Amino acid sequence: MNRICQLFGIQYPIIQGGMVWCSGWRLASAVSHAGGLGLIGAGSMHPEVLREHIRKCQAATDKPFGVNVPLMYPEIDALMNILVEEHVKIVFTSAGNPKTWTGFLKEHGIKVAHVVSSSKFAVKCEQAGVDAVVAEGFEAGGHNGREETTTLCLIPAVRRATSLPLMAAGGIGTGSAMLATFALGAEGVQIGTRFALTKESSAHENFKQLCLNLNEGDTKLLLKKLSPTRLVKGGFTTAVEEAEARGASVEEMKELLGKGRAKKGIFEGDLKEGELEIGQVASLFREMQTAEEVIKEIIEDFRKGYQAVTFGSSQK
Ligand SMILES: Cc1cc2nc3c(=O)[nH]c(=O)nc-3n(C[C@H](O)[C@H](O)[C@H](O)COP(=O)(O)O)c2cc1C
Repeated sequence: MNRICQLFGIQYPIIQGGMVWCSGWRLASAVSHAGGLGLIGAGSMHPEVLREHIRKCQAATDKPFGVNVPLMYPEIDALMNILVEEHVKIVFTSAGNPKTWTGFLKEHGIKVAHVVSSSKFAVKCEQAGVDAVVAEGFEAGGHNGREETTTLCLIPAVRRATSLPLMAAGGIGTGSAMLATFALGAEGVQIGTRFALTKESSAHENFKQLCLNLNEGDTKLLLKKLSPTRLVKGGFTTAVEEAEARGASVEEMKELLGKGRAKKGIFEGDLKEGELEIGQVASLFREMQTAEEVIKEIIEDFRKGYQAVTFGSSQK
């Protein structure tokens, strides 16, 4: 059993990343039920909605699950109290300083992992006392690091910088990709895009179908002046690209983005006006599967890949 499985009490070191408008109790419980670790994405939920999702997840599975909390969440105090009141055991924080809340969560017996995009921040995680770190590369869907470091370069750098249990994220959708990150020093993977496109994801059908038909090069990292975000090209993204090309100011970009665009795109399926967040790896998948099918396929592929790299040449 590796350190990630041990830390979270799970069968496979596969984490389903917290994802706004995709990962409610249904997806999180399905992933946990299949032996991975499902995370409820609190970023798109009012505190009381989160409470409801936690209770439904507890009712749907007796396996461990967790909650992802982006630290820029506006009502963060209320949200943190709910995590404690509802006896959540695992929290993955992101988009903020790990020092702020790690102590509070750990005092309440909660295991904490934090998402970083550089080895510098991985060291800060270690100093803040987190239990594990997720290193997320440039390929990933959703909000992204400013450094634009790819997963292939980031994982060995973070491995060198810290001895914490390490999960790789960004561009991982298959067992062979998982195996590659293990060769670089990861002990688990956090997967977003592939789970966003499963049957249990709460994303709109239009969004899922669009993403299951993307080709290589169909996503782009934009909104760099605000918070770099990987988006599907076309629709609203074209307006963002045009504004960025003419050097629009931060204020102009904020106004163009407005409010509620991610909900509009991902949850309501408005492909023209919505913000469509997805990772580069989407172009590898064409079929909408269940979370359980995804996990089984990844584990099988991982094992086959392991045998191939270990014994491949001698079998010829
Ligand atoms: C639609 C979407 C929404 C996301 N929302 C969040 C979020 O709310 N909080 C967070 O920490 N990461 C978020 N992410 C990032 C994922 O948790 C995960 O780290 C990332 O998707 C991994 O890379 P991949 O997309 O290549 O699998 C999101 C990703 C996607 C695709």
